[in-house]
Amino acid sequence: MKKVLVTVVIVTALAIVFLFGCKNSSKVAEDKKIKIGITVYDQYDTYVSELVKCFEDIAKDELDLVIYNASQSQQTQNTQVQKMIDDGCSVICVNLVDRTDPSAVIDKARKNNVPIIFFNRELVSGDIGRWNKLFYVGADAVQSGTMQGEMAAMSCITDKSIDKNGDGMIQFVMLEGEAGHQDSIVRSENSVNALIEAGIVLDRVGYAIANWNRAQAQTKMAQFLENYPGEIELVLANNDDMALGAIDAYDAAEIIGSDRPIILGVDGTDEGLKAVRDDKMIGTVYNDKEGQARAMFRLAKVLALGGDISELSEEFTVEDGKYIRLPYAKVTAGNVNKFMKK
Ligand code: BGC
Repeated sequence: MKKVLVTVVIVTALAIVFLFGCKNSSKVAEDKKIKIGITVYDQYDTYVSELVKCFEDIAKDELDLVIYNASQSQQTQNTQVQKMIDDGCSVICVNLVDRTDPSAVIDKARKNNVPIIFFNRELVSGDIGRWNKLFYVGADAVQSGTMQGEMAAMSCITDKSIDKNGDGMIQFVMLEGEAGHQDSIVRSENSVNALIEAGIVLDRVGYAIANWNRAQAQTKMAQFLENYPGEIELVLANNDDMALGAIDAYDAAEIIGSDRPIILGVDGTDEGLKAVRDDKMIGTVYNDKEGQARAMFRLAKVLALGGDISELSEEFTVEDGKYIRLPYAKVTAGNVNKFMKK
């Protein structure tokens, strides 16, 4: 009898272990099976590719990822979204090619009940309101422009030699991102406003759209250098790649040291941070890719598992139940190492 009892106890214990063990491992297997799709507007965009790399690093052990490049075609992106739906993606992260034209993406998603996390390229509020399973992860463009302008102003106030011709005004050029992008005009306007508010008198000698692109920025900057030799004291670029393009133009023209203007960007890309460390750029504004990638990862998991977005509230603020915006940060030579280690 005792023997039977012992056997029953052992069998029960084994069954419990087995059941719990199974439950846990099937949970892991279930999570592993969550398939998340991503489509980016252009895989050659430095910032977007660094952001997606962060997302991959965070998510690859837990989620099955499929990543597409829309190569600047909204049509291609719409087809990719359909393919990801057909392939069983539970959630799709969309970096829109044309932020004013998300209709096809939204219609497909809603028809198949697949939530969408838009990121980095913000759709207008009328569109995001079209369905309750549409979200946006990004940052606040106003803040990036203001921070850039404040850093530029601080340099002009503390280092009078920046005003090379001593006319009491700062001659500057603006290198602007893609027309129609939510970050372009807003960064330019707020950067200039912050400088003016700090009491800096500005004289704009040039303005050019260089579409976030380093090579285009170099070409535009080379033109400015030809037209206004020795006159430019400040370069404000809407992103680091264009700031680096401006530096390339100075390198190519063999203008060195104090004959160069101060140059500022936005993003804190790997190359941008190196330029700040090496004193080629006076500062940049960190566009928190780790934070945005983490927000996308957490949101994607919650949506895929049918959870509630309130689960994110300890880590992120979700505005209007739809928007997660990570704060920017000022980067100068003084604190650049902290960002390089991220
Ligand atoms: C970044 C740019 C990037 C653009 C792409 C902006 O937020 O600052 O570097 O090219 O997003 O959408």
